[in-house]
Amino acid sequence: MTITTPLTGKHIILGVTGSIACYKAADLASKFAQAGATVPTILTPCAEKFISPLTFQSVTGQKSFVEADLWGGEGHIQHIGLGIGADLLVIAPCTANTIAKIAHGLADNLLTVTALAARCPIMIAPAMDGGMYSHPATQQNLEILRQRKVHAIGPVEGRMASGMVGLGRMAEVNEIFNRVRLTLSQNGDLSGCHLVITAGGTQEPLDPVRTLTNRSSGKQGYALAQAALDKGARVTLISAPTGLVTPLGALRVDVLTAEEMHQAVLSTVPGSDALIMAAAVADFRPQKQAVEKIKKDKGKPEIQFEFTSDILASVAQIKADTGYPRVMVGFAAESQNLFENAYQKVVKKHLDFIVANDITSNKAGFAVDTNQVTLIDATGKSEAHPLLSKEEVAQIIINRVMKLLGK
Ligand code: CTP
Repeated sequence: MTITTPLTGKHIILGVTGSIACYKAADLASKFAQAGATVPTILTPCAEKFISPLTFQSVTGQKSFVEADLWGGEGHIQHIGLGIGADLLVIAPCTANTIAKIAHGLADNLLTVTALAARCPIMIAPAMDGGMYSHPATQQNLEILRQRKVHAIGPVEGRMASGMVGLGRMAEVNEIFNRVRLTLSQNGDLSGCHLVITAGGTQEPLDPVRTLTNRSSGKQGYALAQAALDKGARVTLISAPTGLVTPLGALRVDVLTAEEMHQAVLSTVPGSDALIMAAAVADFRPQKQAVEKIKKDKGKPEIQFEFTSDILASVAQIKADTGYPRVMVGFAAESQNLFENAYQKVVKKHLDFIVANDITSNKAGFAVDTNQVTLIDATGKSEAHPLLSKEEVAQIIINRVMKLLGK
């Protein structure tokens, strides 16, 4: 199975202007192409001094247009043809000079001609010296572009080619890629839908330095959040502690304990379209949390446990009263009798379906990048999948949720 992203099958023109950040544009072009987009590039004459069109052609498999193409035999087609049919024009890096030109409608090279002729959205990643960026002329030009709905990504603070530190560095390639991904996901099949997704392993404090937790990394829940965002959903990601980067566009709510997650879920699900409980929630917690650190000279501690609340059971009650969330999905990490144990949970927790996995496999489940799951629905129908990446598993789950939502 291959992952589809909002870039898959899209036509993205990458414009490159004369800045030392040109070398990062090659990485960006490669990432667009790897995500399944068709990526012709246009280099301005100044960009050609920094980087060769061959670099872009090599990473995208598409023609990299240069100034000579505007004056060649097909120039009359090229100058408007490139922008027609494009889904997006991204200019990265975008110099103060090109910002000024497109703000004022100048069309003196193949890129600025294309920008003026294009009818698709335009995104720019400004890159310049800090003084040039803060100059009123540049700021006014950027304001003109903002009003025209041209979306600027960055710049960011940092060390610049001059050796000085300031605001003017091109945004990082991942940031630009993620902004483009989010932009192209708008109007997806789940636009207008709100999905609540939980992730990670809760932590139950024992004393000020120790907690009881589990081996969940949060990777599957975060991949679900990204897959839902890719379909244009509004996503609330309720996360126990993880070292993962929040997918751009998700509203992340940080929690520590099972009770905090319970409260966060209860306050978020009313009116929502789906709840996906990918978090590994503690089933019990120490009855008492010691105020001071438990010292070993006091002997072995005797720890009494109490049950935490079952979050899905509480939400099932809300759904019975209000009809929301419209879809409920659980996870079941089992070490034996996978189908029986998981199916019992579908029934007991009133789920639309459960994602069951066998945690005895070292390639699936906790802390690894792959997962092997079986989806089991309320009628007992099961669908077993081979070993896949957590991103692929996330897409399968989100596709199933979409069907249940009638999308
Ligand atoms: N879950 C929950 N609230 C809890 C514990 C679990 O909502 N206090 C959710 C999990 O997020 C998961 C599903 O219930 O989606 C199943 O979790 P699991 O721990 O496998 O099931 P339990 O009902 O706790 O049963 P057991 O641990 O005994 O297998």
